Amino acid sequence: MADKPATTTQTGTPVASDAHSLTVGADGVTALHDRYLVEKLASFNRERVPERNPHAKGGGAFGEFEVTEDVSAYTRAAVFQPGAKSETLLRFSSVAGEQGSPDTWRDVRGFSLRFYTTEGNLDIVGNNTPTFFLRDAMKFPDFIHSQKRLGASGLRDADMQWDFWTLSPESAHQVTYVMGDRGLSRSWRHLNGYGSHTYQWVNAQGERFWVKYHFLSHQGVERMSAGEAERIAGEDADYYRRDLYEAIERGDFPKWDVYVQIMPYEEAKTYRFNPFDLTKTWSKKDYPRIKVGTFTLNRNPQNFFAEIEQAAFSPGNQVPGTGISPDKMLMARVFSYSDAQRYRIGANFNQLPVNQPHAAQVRNYMHEGQMQYHYAPAEHRVYTPNSYGAAGGPEADPLLGVEASWESDGELVRSAATLREDDGDFVQASILYREVFDDEARERFVQTLVGQYNGLTVPAIQERFFWYWGQVDQDLETQLRALAGAPIGEPEPIGIGE
Ligand code: HEM
Repeated sequence: MADKPATTTQTGTPVASDAHSLTVGADGVTALHDRYLVEKLASFNRERVPERNPHAKGGGAFGEFEVTEDVSAYTRAAVFQPGAKSETLLRFSSVAGEQGSPDTWRDVRGFSLRFYTTEGNLDIVGNNTPTFFLRDAMKFPDFIHSQKRLGASGLRDADMQWDFWTLSPESAHQVTYVMGDRGLSRSWRHLNGYGSHTYQWVNAQGERFWVKYHFLSHQGVERMSAGEAERIAGEDADYYRRDLYEAIERGDFPKWDVYVQIMPYEEAKTYRFNPFDLTKTWSKKDYPRIKVGTFTLNRNPQNFFAEIEQAAFSPGNQVPGTGISPDKMLMARVFSYSDAQRYRIGANFNQLPVNQPHAAQVRNYMHEGQMQYHYAPAEHRVYTPNSYGAAGGPEADPLLGVEASWESDGELVRSAATLREDDGDFVQASILYREVFDDEARERFVQTLVGQYNGLTVPAIQERFFWYWGQVDQDLETQLRALAGAPIGEPEPIGIGE
């Protein structure tokens, strides 16, 4: 007893027992005024916060990023200047499964990377694929609903997943990735990350460039077989989380190289497809990868809930010299993440240790709200402009606050983006299937699709499934029909081509 510090209430008063409630006699009723018991139960009832809606199951670790090359011709951001070192946080996740879901279910993996820079936090919230299922945020909630659970039964449902995908042909490239080897990674350490969207960089002269981020694993990219994934899902739902944690604990620190593809600002106007379309990758022949530096994960969280569950990433967290682009998905994401976090964590989520900047200071006129922790000096005004000089509070500096920008004009419309020569929905999915996958990867892909087909029960969706893959590759459709035992019939274009 004597060598342990005494238990206290949340306000620091020593308590008399860790084990016994206050009762009227040893066998009597419990007293409602047992302040510590009530506090302990009330605190317990509030331990869970809502999980992230997409990407609920995940894990992560801290580390360090070091710039090893010189990309100062493209960005003025301090974090990317030669020799710069920054603390990082990386969170991996699955998209569709809930908190307790098995890590090895087939899915895209989230790759959320934070740089704690001297100019504020920079977050690149991407995936292990360089593309996405959609190009307009209006469809995002429907997409996530279709991947989660039916309203009535609360069950996951292959029909609704494939109904949504096959009615949204822009999904084909990403669905090809996720039904291929990237859908079943060996571990979080064995995957590449991508910013996926096109972002903007601005250099010290004010010149603008379009960029795509690539994070290439030093551990290599490795897959897992479908059988192995299924077995592990039953044996160890936290397989990826455990693998990352244990690797870091034993000093086997995973590393990724940071690369960018750079497109000169003007070239975006005439590139052969819309370079802001998130369903497309840029050709590496046209825009080769340029190395920036390397980051290493070398520190596990001390507390999973405080540092990983409460981590609040946002694609809107940009710094001077980096910014977003006219990608319709990205613009909407800038709103969506902080909105989700105000609900999920609370109004002052950015004051938590994991979310506050670690190498920069926060100075503005926002204050109060639930759980305010930081506050300004007493002489600080609560408004701007004010006449109190430096003591009265900060003043915005347009020379420091460099923002990404681009020209924009036109009517307000609700419309798909203007089509260019190579903008078709299936063009890059076909290239991925025919030219990037090797024979064995194609064989595994076909087997996965047959397995998926076997989960479908609605004839119109089954037929559209064949149509969808026929657009990617005619022989693939023929093969799938033969393997699935379905006759080769007329494609039924129900709801397609909107
Ligand atoms: C308009 C489209 C999208 C919307 C509205 C959206 C919305 C959201 C929301 C609300 C969250 C939960 C945030 C939280 O509670 O902290 C989330 C998480 C996430 N999203 Fe998206 N998302 C979109 C597209 C994307 C895309 C295109 C990617 C990848 C390229 C992506 C990657 C992620 C990742 C990795 C997470 C987990 C973040 C973390 O680790 O905490 N999302 N998304």
